[in-house]
Amino acid sequence: MRSGVDGLPSDYVKILFVTPECYPLVKTGGLADVAGALPMALGPMGVDAQVLLPGYPGVRAQLHSAQRVARLPGLFGGNAELVRGTTAHGLSVMLIDAPHLYHRPGGPYLGPDGKDWPDNHLRFAALSWVGAQLAFGRLGDWKPDLVHLHDWQAALTAAYLRFDKERAAAPPTVLTIHNLAFQGLFEPSVRKALQLPAEAMHVDGMEYWGTLSFLKAGVQWASHLSTVSPTYAREILTPNDGMGFDGLLRARSNELTGIVNGIDTGLWDPETDPHLAAPFSARKLTAKAKNTAALQRELGLPVRSDVPVLAVVSRLTAQKGLDLLLDALPRVLATDAQLVVLGTGDTALEADFRDAAEAYPTQVATVIGFDEALSHRLQAGAHAMVVPSRFEPCGLTQLYGLRYGAIPVVARVGGLADTVIDANEAALHDGVATGVQFSPVEADALAVAIERTIELFRDKVAWQKIQKRAMSRDVGWGSRAAQYESLYAKVLAGRAQ
Ligand code: ADP
Ligand code: GLC
Repeated sequence: MRSGVDGLPSDYVKILFVTPECYPLVKTGGLADVAGALPMALGPMGVDAQVLLPGYPGVRAQLHSAQRVARLPGLFGGNAELVRGTTAHGLSVMLIDAPHLYHRPGGPYLGPDGKDWPDNHLRFAALSWVGAQLAFGRLGDWKPDLVHLHDWQAALTAAYLRFDKERAAAPPTVLTIHNLAFQGLFEPSVRKALQLPAEAMHVDGMEYWGTLSFLKAGVQWASHLSTVSPTYAREILTPNDGMGFDGLLRARSNELTGIVNGIDTGLWDPETDPHLAAPFSARKLTAKAKNTAALQRELGLPVRSDVPVLAVVSRLTAQKGLDLLLDALPRVLATDAQLVVLGTGDTALEADFRDAAEAYPTQVATVIGFDEALSHRLQAGAHAMVVPSRFEPCGLTQLYGLRYGAIPVVARVGGLADTVIDANEAALHDGVATGVQFSPVEADALAVAIERTIELFRDKVAWQKIQKRAMSRDVGWGSRAAQYESLYAKVLAGRAQ
């Protein structure tokens, strides 16, 4: 039997993931977690999923048995190569090692000055173009049956397939929109540099109100669209949440599927998590208190077991609604609570949370930066995770919160609405509540939700019940990966709904 990669049987469906991030190689947000975990979860379902990623600095060195698959001469202004290797977790990854595009200090999207890299159009056109060449089987001996594109950075793959002379032989594509706010907008004049024909810049193509949009190319030309929760899939069809794309998406609403994200329950397991001060589980819940004390000690807060610890782990941007938390802070802190914030992003929000920590040194601790290990300790030590997002395609921190018994307090939007059951009277009575939801997404409603949470916290019996229920929720990838697997099957059969 001819095998795909690493001895997988040839009857495995071959899926190429094209993504700008993948945990543990490179991560700025939830997309990395999804691109790292979903391909692994698909393996047992008969899917051979390979990930294609830009070769940012340090990424190649993290791969085991990295080997060149193909040369990529003259790739958008320089020579490059395609390299395949395996992560420490066993995920098979292909990297575009292109020094002129990716070898530079800074983040995947922003330079050290905090501004977008000026050649982002070329950096992600290269990712998309290589994705298209792999799709046609022109690089190495692995040819996918279907290509799964993630966000605007990969969306142009659909254009390269559409305008290729062999387009009839192109495999189908699924574009997952992880966040409609990022549309990959550039000056129309970059079109030539992208090596796409003039006809691509059409109102029915990638032209978008006088700009060129990578995301629109994907929305127009991908075989199927998906997003990361059923509620967000409905929200983006409305002018309110469609961010200018609602009309386009409505036109394809029969080919738009919402599948809630899972989490990697191996990496995020309070019983085995190496980052924690003490392991705990729903059965040994008292040990969670050791993590709370360790967190308070680490962040310089008074070590008290009677005080609720609220936590935020987030990009600090308008999307996440954390300005509402700042507005609600005096009222929240009047209830004798502690707040720990781990985040990075807008400088004004960073400064506001630093100021809050200075103003309330015994109640607020702020860590500005990106710290994976600390994010685990925060989930383990916190009693509640606060996620007041204005919109949230799925959200993962509330899922980690459920798993670690850190009760999510969430805005009733997008995937937050789909993954948390509000502790209203009926849900408490029926024994199904897993968190607290609030709406509208305003400071007052958030303050009320936090007060409700703290009231529940003070009722030790009720609180433990919610924690145990939250921790027993199925938040893993299993059933969600199965939904992707059946979506791939439908798309391959050309009858996706
Ligand atoms: P988004 O992708 O919109 O940022 P998600 O909730 O889906 O939101 O995913 C965020 C991911 O990034 C989670 O894994 C979260 O723990 C992580 N994260 C966000 N900010 C930080 C930070 N400052 N340090 C460590 N991890 C962070
Ligand atoms: C995006 C969204 C977030 C989602 C993540 C992974 O970054 O903002 O809600 O969980 O992608 O799909």
